[in-house]
Amino acid sequence: MRAVRVRLAVGACLLLCVGWGPSRSNAIVKGPYVQNVTTVACTIMWELRSPDVGTVSYGTTADCPFEVGTTTPHTIHELALGGLTPDTVYYYRVSSGGVRSRMFTFRTAPTSHRPFRFVVYGDNRSYPAVHARIARLIKREEPDFVVHTGDLVNQGTVYDQWETEFFTPASCYLPYVPIFPTVGHHEQNAANYFRFFSLPPPERYYSFRWSNMEFFTYDCIRGGKELTDQIAWLEASLKASAAEWKAIWCHVPIYCAGGHGGSKSLRALVQPILDRVPVDLILAGDSHLFERTFGIARRSVPNAWPTIHITTGGGGAPLYKAGKGIWTATTRSVHHICSFHVDGQKLTMKAIDVDGRVFDTLSLDKSTPPDQIVYLEDIEASEATK
Ligand SMILES: [Fe+2]
Repeated sequence: MRAVRVRLAVGACLLLCVGWGPSRSNAIVKGPYVQNVTTVACTIMWELRSPDVGTVSYGTTADCPFEVGTTTPHTIHELALGGLTPDTVYYYRVSSGGVRSRMFTFRTAPTSHRPFRFVVYGDNRSYPAVHARIARLIKREEPDFVVHTGDLVNQGTVYDQWETEFFTPASCYLPYVPIFPTVGHHEQNAANYFRFFSLPPPERYYSFRWSNMEFFTYDCIRGGKELTDQIAWLEASLKASAAEWKAIWCHVPIYCAGGHGGSKSLRALVQPILDRVPVDLILAGDSHLFERTFGIARRSVPNAWPTIHITTGGGGAPLYKAGKGIWTATTRSVHHICSFHVDGQKLTMKAIDVDGRVFDTLSLDKSTPPDQIVYLEDIEASEATK
């Protein structure tokens, strides 16, 4: 089935690139694209130029024997497919606005500990030509899902930018691979972000699980009680999680030596959680570069699990100058993606630049903490002398 999926995916991607895909039709202006894929469900979304009804035909065979539809006209369609079988390839097509899309596929999440791959990137805003190259790199990795660290468009309140800066450049992978985004500065807290994505509730912050890993995000651009309530949710959710691997992602990093640097106010909120709950990865964007830290832990907390922080904001926006802190393992000012592979207790990461060259790798084994550790007390001492 995987071979079928790949052939269909590559063929459809080529057709989209030469303008025969549904996003170029008279009626469908965005998508279709897959959202919120779980072990048993998925949401298919698309946008029409003008309101109309629509249906999704789907199934595990290319004749798509099942159908769900709307009875009231909309421009943005969001149709949930339920009762699906875990770890299974589904075919689907949409009929809406007087046109029928071509066939696409997606794969449901596994219930067992199947190996999986995911790609993380962010800050693609403003430069769709670079974003399109990044999207093709993502497609080539054949990820099960994509995690985005925010700043998908330059101005979230400007409706047209969602098509030109995000949906069109990313159209090679969006019909096949679910994306799990987070809110960045440039989303401007706009309704458009929540209109165009169907995410686990309550959407501004949420978690999702894939195999033996769970991911948690929060809207770090908020302040005051809106932020502290999310931080309380984050700690409670992390403590309740039985997943072997845990990752947090949000827009602004708490350890980053380049670009805008890390946020000390967020660090004051998040680091105490990391002192209490083992978290393997924190993924962020905001600074348009790549920076990976050594494992960071507080020396004075016995058995504190060292967390690796990765700033990956190289999705297309103008690059920022890299910097080096005492926590920095690798940094590079380059457009890139991070491709992760998880197989039971092993996690590996390749940072791949826009020309397809691997420039950093990471290999973790859950049975032992990361071997290179920087202690928080030493970070604070080095910052005090600056
Ligand atoms: Fe930002």
